[in-house]
Amino acid sequence: MKIAIIGTGYVGLPTGVGLAELGHQVVCIDRELSKIEKLRQGVVTLYEDGLAELLTKNMASGNISFTTSMADGVKDAAVVIIAVGTPPHPVTHEADLRYIYAAACELAPLLDHYTVVANKSTVPVGTGDMVENLIVKTNHQAQCDVISLPEFLREGFAVHDFFCPDRIIIGANSERASKVIMDMYRPLLERNTDNAGKCATTVLLVSRRSSETIKYAANSFLATKIHFINEMADFCEKTGADIGEVAQGMGLDRRIGDSFLTPGPGFGGSCFPKDTMALDFMARQNNVELKLVRATIEGNRSRMEKMADTIISSLEHIEHPVVGVLGLAFKNGTDDCRVSPAMQIIEYLLCKTPKVRLKVFDPKAMDNARLIFQEKGVTDRISFCESMSDVAYDADVLAVLTEWNEFRQFDLNAAYKNMRHHQIIDCRNLFNPHQARAAGFSYKGIGVH
Ligand code: UDX
Repeated sequence: MKIAIIGTGYVGLPTGVGLAELGHQVVCIDRELSKIEKLRQGVVTLYEDGLAELLTKNMASGNISFTTSMADGVKDAAVVIIAVGTPPHPVTHEADLRYIYAAACELAPLLDHYTVVANKSTVPVGTGDMVENLIVKTNHQAQCDVISLPEFLREGFAVHDFFCPDRIIIGANSERASKVIMDMYRPLLERNTDNAGKCATTVLLVSRRSSETIKYAANSFLATKIHFINEMADFCEKTGADIGEVAQGMGLDRRIGDSFLTPGPGFGGSCFPKDTMALDFMARQNNVELKLVRATIEGNRSRMEKMADTIISSLEHIEHPVVGVLGLAFKNGTDDCRVSPAMQIIEYLLCKTPKVRLKVFDPKAMDNARLIFQEKGVTDRISFCESMSDVAYDADVLAVLTEWNEFRQFDLNAAYKNMRHHQIIDCRNLFNPHQARAAGFSYKGIGVH
């Protein structure tokens, strides 16, 4: 089946490579020529574990190609997947749909055969109706069905999540469109079916608006679950309980489950913050109050400032404080610094303590973080380290901000010798408190003692 994908970002590219790996003929379209040129050379334009290898393999087999031309890309395509960005409005947080509409307007005149147009971008409820109206208004002869096909890919694990989805949600108001999408995913469903004929992936057919809602509801629930465990960590700090034990005990209840119960500095990334705020905006637009979502948004925001204040309070009486920072990405496994709790905490630190200097390291996100620091004009106060051990030299406090597993191997004894003062603020509970104290540090974690 020939499939066109509009957008080669964190959703479009892994989806395109995944569909090519399933044996489809995929053309990825992007208006940025620089991105397309890199991809044509087999250079991935974002970090995702396993993506580069799959891209190389499917370029060699001719299953995937790249173009800036919408006309070339969608020619003879049975499915056109829209996977462009829907960034939040900086003030209202309403999802900005200009790229969706631009793609639909450019696509409409090119639809000269029955085509399923699938919105994979996270879009407000009702967007599918508007895209369908836009296409018909632009080309009243277009034979197409617009469906919602939400993605549930975690950054850093997108390749895994593409091939091992819990569910595929098809939001369609047309049997014909649903059948085309089922055909598209058939190779994946066959891969995920065991010898007993049980498939690990559930396909759910729902209305278009329900599908659009599922995406926001799922992300907002996960964000709420994270914020809940973060608040419980604060409770544990006051009551002497251990958040690791509490989370473990909670997670053994199958109705709760043990995932997304790891406390931290707050949730970040290009999805949870955006989607919770967009859902809150849509609710208010429809005169509905989502108090739980609102509390999660507000609580998550204030948590990062609270983390920064904890670091600042450990710098008191230090004339020219230096903070060694481990982690800049919004989470482990990715190079993405967008809406990163680490970057937000650093911003508070630099703003609230004019004399502080930072020494930073991240295994994958250094280049992206450097660009952000340059835009903010703060690179004169930041040293970019080559390794995690370098951040300790002459530092007064060590702050762990991203849950990279390699930080668990951090040499505490060597760091103790190289640091000026010996404090650890572990916002991800990566270090063992007893080992840190045995090495001579004063240690503060999240919800532990
Ligand atoms: C999320 C959803 O998981 C995914 O299904 C959806 O398609 C896109 O949004 P992503 O934003 O890539 O994926 O990251 P995720 O792994 O969900 O983590 C989001 C944030 O929550 C990160 O800042 C992470 O550090 C934090 N987090 C996650 C916690 O603090 N604790 C946890 O237990 C899990």
